Amino acid sequence: MGDLLFPDNFLFGASTSAHQTEGNNTNSDWWDFELSKDTPIFEPSGDACDSYHRYQEDIQLVADFGLNTYRFSIEWARIEPAEGRFSNAELAHYRRMLEACHARGITPVVTFHHFTLPRWLDKQGGFLSPRFAELFERYCDRAAQALGDLIGWACTINEPEGAGDAGWVIGVHPPGIKGDHDSMWRVVQNVLEAHKRGAAAIRRHTDAPCGVTLAFQDMQYEGGAVPGHTPWEDNARVSEMFLEASSEDEFVGLQTYTRIVFGPEGERGPGLKADKKNGIVETPMTTMVGWEFYPQALAETIRRTSKLTGGKPILLTENGIATMDDDKRIAFIDHALRTVHTCLAEGIDVRGYLYWTLLDNFEWSGGYEPKFGLVSVDRTTFERKPKPSAYWYGNVARSRALPAEAVQWPPVPVPVSVT
Ligand code: GCO
Repeated sequence: MGDLLFPDNFLFGASTSAHQTEGNNTNSDWWDFELSKDTPIFEPSGDACDSYHRYQEDIQLVADFGLNTYRFSIEWARIEPAEGRFSNAELAHYRRMLEACHARGITPVVTFHHFTLPRWLDKQGGFLSPRFAELFERYCDRAAQALGDLIGWACTINEPEGAGDAGWVIGVHPPGIKGDHDSMWRVVQNVLEAHKRGAAAIRRHTDAPCGVTLAFQDMQYEGGAVPGHTPWEDNARVSEMFLEASSEDEFVGLQTYTRIVFGPEGERGPGLKADKKNGIVETPMTTMVGWEFYPQALAETIRRTSKLTGGKPILLTENGIATMDDDKRIAFIDHALRTVHTCLAEGIDVRGYLYWTLLDNFEWSGGYEPKFGLVSVDRTTFERKPKPSAYWYGNVARSRALPAEAVQWPPVPVPVSVT
């Protein structure tokens, strides 16, 4: 069997987000949340990767590896620092990022909102504000007016299905409330409306495909288990609500990382508790607490998404692994791309694969511990150091082909054991 070939126009890229890489997003809800008393966040984002100043270097790395697409987000807290006051200087900054992509033949995928909100909106209730959809629409309109002609693909909101859950049930995102399901469902309604109104605003200023990026994990039920109401399951239901609400969208951004296995006793899955004293140590799976090494999860989520949307184009906007073992990362990407190729061969319309993430960056509540990046970043000098996986993946992108033989990686995924 020869190499596995990908379509000529298939997008091979890497993804990042503003708050996780730019640094000093001091006008945002997350900045305050990270520094608040008793914060659940492992450490503050601080300078991050200084990508606000080093984006040319980042985009040059994308091009040098042989990738053809770069997903990044634009920061609402910078673009609208005070309610109704839009910064031309910040819009010009993001326009320069887009120009840097085009100058290198890189397709820019722009996320308009990736978790963070301006402080002034946070003070009005953030996602709970009854004006959230209206304010998000106005922000999208102004940003798309300034940037729309250079955008390759537009994503409105990153993982909106988790906004209510993370902020009001689990409490690991602002405002850090736990167990408030009523507010969570009110947030869901607000972000659903915001996506529709934001997408309409963006379409007024660009011909780029516009959609939303949703997290779906491969949910597996064993031994008579039935779907329940864990956060993973509630999020999956909300993601499906977004798919129903996205009939106008030109594509769906799909973000899959692993599988979640349920038994009659509930969620199964090893994974260690991360805490401030011991930090996050690598389990036999990945260094994301509870996330198993399971790249083939994409098969189920791609098929399910395509079925639920009647075959709408899918852009894999995130898929990756947190690990200190770069050989494991190469094997992960190889397995994931092999799975994508299988889905393409079944006739499913997958347009591209964007690895999460380009740079080791601020992994939200995990701080800088989980290392997803193709490139390591020195936390003092911000020096970028590409890992072997960056060149391996770039070669696949350049050749548009996976070698016939899968990358062998010594340990097999740890079977889910029920203690
Ligand atoms: C998310 C975000 C990314 C994460 C990535 C790894 O879904 O949480 O899109 O910001 O860093 O998914 O957890």
